[in-house]
Amino acid sequence: MQLTSKLPNVTTTIFSIMSQLAAKHGAINLSQGFPNFEVDQQMKDLINHYVQGGFNQYAPMPGLMELRQAIAKKKELLYGCSLDPDTEITITNGATEAIFSAITALIRPGDEVIVFEPAYDSYVPSVEVNGGVAVPLRLKSPDYRIDWDQVRDMVSPKTRMIMINTPHNPTGTVLGQEDMEALSQIVSGTDILVLSDEVYQHLIYDGREHESVLRYPDLYRRSIITMSFGKTFHATGWRIGYAIAPPEITEEIRKVHQFNTFSINRPLQHALADYLATPENYLSLPDFFQRKRDLFLHAMADTPFEFLDCAGTYFVLASYRNISDLGDQAFARWLTTERGVAVIPISSFYSDGTDEKIIRFCFAKTEELLLGAGGKLNLRL
Ligand SMILES: Cc1ncc(COP(=O)(O)O)c(C=O)c1O
Repeated sequence: MQLTSKLPNVTTTIFSIMSQLAAKHGAINLSQGFPNFEVDQQMKDLINHYVQGGFNQYAPMPGLMELRQAIAKKKELLYGCSLDPDTEITITNGATEAIFSAITALIRPGDEVIVFEPAYDSYVPSVEVNGGVAVPLRLKSPDYRIDWDQVRDMVSPKTRMIMINTPHNPTGTVLGQEDMEALSQIVSGTDILVLSDEVYQHLIYDGREHESVLRYPDLYRRSIITMSFGKTFHATGWRIGYAIAPPEITEEIRKVHQFNTFSINRPLQHALADYLATPENYLSLPDFFQRKRDLFLHAMADTPFEFLDCAGTYFVLASYRNISDLGDQAFARWLTTERGVAVIPISSFYSDGTDEKIIRFCFAKTEELLLGAGGKLNLRL
């Protein structure tokens, strides 16, 4: 039998590879983006309550109405927007499914999707498996700013979507009002959709405001916003997120969601609806993670790494050009096996493997682990 792969360039993700390597060598794992601390006890009790209470059968296909209502209320509080939970919010299997279902519903063979690289690794394969063409715009260190004139030049009659991600994985940059306005101008009067991946909406520091597409009614009319409860509430294993989009776009996304996952874990949805009723549960997150960022940077202050600015997410980038001439893949492996700290090489986020000798540290870890990593890397490298 001849099997022709639809995704010949896709291999095991670097996140799995580095986590496995970290486990094998007993290294401190600052590679994959998941917290190593516990979920709030209140949330665990709520999940337990709903499982024990018998809320264990299929949830409605678009998601539990109570949860969608709680999300709409939260967005109004945060971004001053008014969403209809019935027609604009769909609960998905993590943001990954939200992204995949949206692209599958909206991208046809030959459609072009502009993607800013370094990019989260699901974007390009999700476009390509649907026959779309990912058109990368490569952003460069140290600031990874988007040149919107360049974006305007890249738009072609085939451009169907522009994907943004703010706060941005892996660079920790955030888009400002001027970026959102430039994007709005470029897409205005066209049929171009915007997919705005905002899974790190609450992880934004130093008093900055998150510039959600939900703050821009004109832009929202053509947009899909993807969010993740796993990222927000320290539980990436729950696999629950959502897509927000205007009714006519949501209708299309649900056609795919219906046959992709059909519906999402019911007891979790009940528990999250209750948990969201206390805004402090998410409003406290920027301070919580900013303290971790600052602690980690302090712990690393005497190492030869050069850290880049981190305005959001729980990732911070560092250049190791003072330390080694190795390529970033080899350096990340060396740091894991020889120095006991696992990280992610940034070339993995570029489809052409651009290597600027930069690695990504994840600081969503306990104080003990962050200080431990600083201790290991303070050694002469
Ligand atoms: C930018 C970005 N988008 C989406 C996701 C996926 O989120 P989820 O775990 O909810 O599927 C991640 C996870 O790392 C991410 O970093």
